[in-house]
Amino acid sequence: MTRIIGIASGKGGVGKTTVTVNLGAALARELKKDVIIVDCNITTSHLGLHLGMYTFPTTLNDVLRGKARIESAIYEHFSGVRIIPASLFLEDLKGVDVVKIKSTIKKLEGMADYILLDSAPGLGREAMAALDACDEIIFVTTPYVPSLTDIAKSQTVAEDKGIKIIGVVLNMVTGEKHEPTHNEVEAIIKLPVLARIPFDKKILRSLSAKSPVVMAYPSSEATQEFIKVAEFVTGERAPRRGIFDRLRDLIFGSPELG
Ligand SMILES: Nc1ncnc2c1ncn2[C@@H]1O[C@H](COP(=O)(O)OP(=O)(O)O)[C@@H](O)[C@H]1O
Ligand SMILES: [Mg+2]
Repeated sequence: MTRIIGIASGKGGVGKTTVTVNLGAALARELKKDVIIVDCNITTSHLGLHLGMYTFPTTLNDVLRGKARIESAIYEHFSGVRIIPASLFLEDLKGVDVVKIKSTIKKLEGMADYILLDSAPGLGREAMAALDACDEIIFVTTPYVPSLTDIAKSQTVAEDKGIKIIGVVLNMVTGEKHEPTHNEVEAIIKLPVLARIPFDKKILRSLSAKSPVVMAYPSSEATQEFIKVAEFVTGERAPRRGIFDRLRDLIFGSPELG
């Protein structure tokens, strides 16, 4: 069975693409799942940038313009996930009909265990198209009251559409006093918090190294939190990294970054 999961947020820049890429890599590498991640943020497409893949012969834009079949816009990434990118070029927005995202994604059913949709933020046309295309949803937010309040709005819309809400990933957590506590967060959003990803420069470093942090820094706290989300989603337990692996990461640095 293919599960189609949207990764959504109220605000932009909170870490949706980071979560999509790392949840995808954790599902593929740690839990051996077949994963396709799709860039549904057509106007500001960043998925390829996060994975070090910039230009493609065929993109989701071509499919949504009726110029190509979805099968020809699927690419392998070295993390083990397959990606369906959107174009980085402004001219490729011409003639794109985001309403077709739903029927396009439907065609992928049976081709993977998990399809993750990297959504546009908010509740505009593009974000709604991704909401319409998914059966389940994970919200991403920073631990700030305005972002949490936006999630509450998106939650109502998702519930009205009958989408199953898996929970919320809190991202860029610093643990500083001004941040709402775990209980305060759950009181505002009334949804399970799946993980608390720390604000970590390793995530920025791995972006510039064009690798998911789960590969670049396998022993980092951020990686453990992404694996936690993958375990929650699947209901399965990933193998734990042994003490020697962790020591090697600590002494020699990341195996991916050298
Ligand atoms: N936990 C984190 N710690 C540090 N930087 C982060 C973290 N999560 C995301 N970032 C950085 O923040 C920026 C925005 O993240 P991104 O995933 O592109 O957000 P969105 O997709 O919601 O717009 C990127 O440069 C990303 O590397
Ligand atoms: Mg994004």
